[in-house]
Amino acid sequence: MTNRAIRILLIDDDDDEVVLLREMLSAIGKDDYALEQAATYAEGLAGLRSGQHDVALVDYRLGPRDGLDLMREAKKLGCQTPMIFLTGMGRHEIDLEAMGAGAVDYLAKGKVDPESLERSIRYAVERKTLEAMFVQSEKLSAMGQLAAGLAHELNNPLMLIIGTVKTLLEAEPVDPHLAEALKRIDRSSERCRELVRELLAFSRKDESPSHEFDLTEAVVAALSLVKTQAKIQGVAIENEAPHIPLKILGHKSHIEQVVINLCNNALDAMPTGGRLSIHLGRTHRKQRDFAQVKVSDTGPGIPAKLMGRIFEPFFTTKPADKGTGLGLSIIQKLVHQHGGEVEVASVEKRGTSFTVTLPLAETKRSRSTRHATQDPGR
Ligand SMILES: Nc1ncnc2c1ncn2[C@@H]1O[C@H](COP(=O)(O)OP(=O)(O)OP(=O)(O)O)[C@@H](O)[C@H]1O
Ligand SMILES: [Mg+2]
Repeated sequence: MTNRAIRILLIDDDDDEVVLLREMLSAIGKDDYALEQAATYAEGLAGLRSGQHDVALVDYRLGPRDGLDLMREAKKLGCQTPMIFLTGMGRHEIDLEAMGAGAVDYLAKGKVDPESLERSIRYAVERKTLEAMFVQSEKLSAMGQLAAGLAHELNNPLMLIIGTVKTLLEAEPVDPHLAEALKRIDRSSERCRELVRELLAFSRKDESPSHEFDLTEAVVAALSLVKTQAKIQGVAIENEAPHIPLKILGHKSHIEQVVINLCNNALDAMPTGGRLSIHLGRTHRKQRDFAQVKVSDTGPGIPAKLMGRIFEPFFTTKPADKGTGLGLSIIQKLVHQHGGEVEVASVEKRGTSFTVTLPLAETKRSRSTRHATQDPGR
């Protein structure tokens, strides 16, 4: 569903070849591809290690060390970018060696045409996305089972601790030291309760029926819960919404949770003030209408090397008493359950934007109507 251009790293020292491939890519779709050249082995390795490209095209001839060495070294260093090997013609043993060195495909230079190039790139990118989704869903299901069991076991003793501490705090005034200690226990156990709640939300499938709600209302409700904290930190909130309803079919409380989590992350990124902007709007993709909510901050941004990990469950850069690393994985899961998508864009030292795209209710309805008319026998 992503509309951005596919970023291609072309590792090739031959400028003519770069021009040729650029022309082919333009023939396939001018705005669909962004090509960057790395003209040496070292530049190629640096590009592959940056993890910023969707796919790399690696030439065989690269001076004293060849493309096979480069792919092996990049793989050893943990490079995840899918690599397509560009070979001379008729050296099948080298093509096979390239696959052993980590290439996902190979293309014979003289024979490449726009169609085969497009197919090879698309296949490489799709395979990478599918692999990442598979790893994520395996992890999520294992985490979900663990989380469900843990949350269940922890909930009762925790409620007892919280209840008892609150009773003690409400009782006759006690020694001030003791009162202070009780307050600390109270704060920590509340934090544990929050964690258990997050774990339960993470593991439990909400069986309650979907309903239609306005995305703007969910956002307003979420903002009312974060505005006090924003004020304390000196963060100004900017909220823009169109004057048209954005009807979503699903669970309002879940979408509220999504927005709250995104705002909390933004606030965590701006401990000494800044601007939190929430923009609501509509967009049209692949013949469907979607509502969008974009949460942006003026924090330090997310380093490029961490971008691929932020949606992993339990991935956090925050201290243990501050973050559990579940926020974004919960957000992603809830948004996917609504048929939507979360995208992130970040510029270091400038800030981060998360965009949540959700199908509009009327689109869902009109689609099912169309299905019904196309296939009356169903
Ligand atoms: N707006 C943001 N600005 C900078 N970094 C961010 C932002 N949002 C997320 N991150 C990074 O992504 C990591 C994962 O975020 P996530 O919400 O999943 O967990 P968390 O905020 O660390 O903990 P939790 O949400 O469970 O309390 C964060 O630790 C942080 O490094
Ligand atoms: Mg978070």
